[in-house]
Amino acid sequence: MKFPPRPKTPALIQKFQWILDPIGYLEGTHERYPDIFVAKDIGFGQNVVVVNHPQALQQILTNDRKQFSSPGKTNKLLEPLIGDYSVMMLEGDRHKKRRQLVMPSFHGERMKAYGDLICNLADRVIGEIPTGQPFLARDATQAISMQVILQAVFGLYEGKRYQKLKALFSSVGDIFHSPVNSIFLFIPFLQRDWGAWSPWGKFVRLRQQIDDLLYTEIAERRANPDRDRTDILSMLMSARDEEGRPLSDKELRDELMTLMFAGHETTATAMAWALYWIHTIPEVRYKLLAELDSLGDSKDLMSLARLPYLTAVCQETLRIHPVAILTFPRVATEPVELMGYQIQPGTTVAGCIYLTHQREDIYRDRHQFKPERFLEKQFSPYEFIPFGGGARRCIGEALAMFEMKLAIATIMSRYQLELVDRRPEKPQRRGVTLAPDRGVRMTKLSRQSQVASPQSQVAIIH
Ligand code: HEM
Repeated sequence: MKFPPRPKTPALIQKFQWILDPIGYLEGTHERYPDIFVAKDIGFGQNVVVVNHPQALQQILTNDRKQFSSPGKTNKLLEPLIGDYSVMMLEGDRHKKRRQLVMPSFHGERMKAYGDLICNLADRVIGEIPTGQPFLARDATQAISMQVILQAVFGLYEGKRYQKLKALFSSVGDIFHSPVNSIFLFIPFLQRDWGAWSPWGKFVRLRQQIDDLLYTEIAERRANPDRDRTDILSMLMSARDEEGRPLSDKELRDELMTLMFAGHETTATAMAWALYWIHTIPEVRYKLLAELDSLGDSKDLMSLARLPYLTAVCQETLRIHPVAILTFPRVATEPVELMGYQIQPGTTVAGCIYLTHQREDIYRDRHQFKPERFLEKQFSPYEFIPFGGGARRCIGEALAMFEMKLAIATIMSRYQLELVDRRPEKPQRRGVTLAPDRGVRMTKLSRQSQVASPQSQVAIIH
């Protein structure tokens, strides 16, 4: 049996293409090798078989923990940010147990409790932007998603520590916001502290300040336990493993860093893309406002989150611009046949979310933003995979979707926004994710002191 095809481009060139122009790299390689190819070391310390055919994805993700494992060490890239005790770094049984501990915080009743918080934050952030003054939607959505994590996960609402953490996390995000600076994550050799002005030196100092604040918060909570708190940190602090042991301070710190970075950068980017498309295609905006209007004065957030067109807009946003390019890597634990190719034990394999979502055979007119496709057809979990799947499926999926829907609905029904820059936004690397290259420049046309009826906005558009 044959091995998957390998592009001839030298390893170093592939790596730099992958870091600086991931879309160009993927589209170019996909043209020659449509379903599967071997990428030279692009950041996992070894070659990786990249697959985007739903059949192959199904085989990998349904056999997680059987034919494939997902060793934490393949996520080493993120270790400087999130530490080595994070759920993302654990493997095997320890990984499974940690997931069981963290998952309940992101489901059911708990999710409902975060609804008002999300709507209030979205309203406040956009409300504070001066009318007529251009702003970047990516900055605004980041302000929303970061505060959602600080409040819902960390349980911090106001005060000095809250403000300091907000500023520090935002500075860390800024370091890796461009493709060039993202190089520091991918090339460990460059991770040297050459003083406070060097990018890595700056990062290390910011991380130290964040750690100091997090450890102080944890110590204070341990000293003054409060059973009435509903935040995720409190839940993690009271959780016990099978031997009755609580999570250590380091484990708690690493989990907080993980949830902050996995949770706020991703959701912020997804919401910025949604605002971009809604304001690029008048018909999408019109349909969305009409649907929001159909709810009348109902404040039931769960009904809002179930609205079909709003849901389809969020899904199509994540389809056309999946924030994560690849799933986490998996490693074959036995000889496997994948799409007719032989995969040897020890081979690293990753699902390419971007290329799967760009397959013309699944998504006709793939470059067009068409929420209707999600109303007309149900895509399988291996055709639409913005949150990955299997043993490492995104823990925050429910929160991310809920937040996207509620924040977009709040912004659309209360404010009239407009794109300032009509040139198309292109996806560009931002750390390990893809984000709009110019950040989606917008202005707010009116500042409403009361909730505006979407009907009145619909009337204004037409
Ligand atoms: C639009 C927003 C988001 C997107 C697109 C996204 C995407 C992903 C993807 C693709 C994975 C890897 C799955 C795999 O390899 O199969 C993942 C894992 C993960 N995500 Fe998300 N995510 C988002 C939001 C969030 C939020 C809000 C949180 C938590 C607050 C979160 C926490 C995590 C964690 C902890 C993992 C690692 C799971 C593990 O190692 O077992 N994510 N996410």
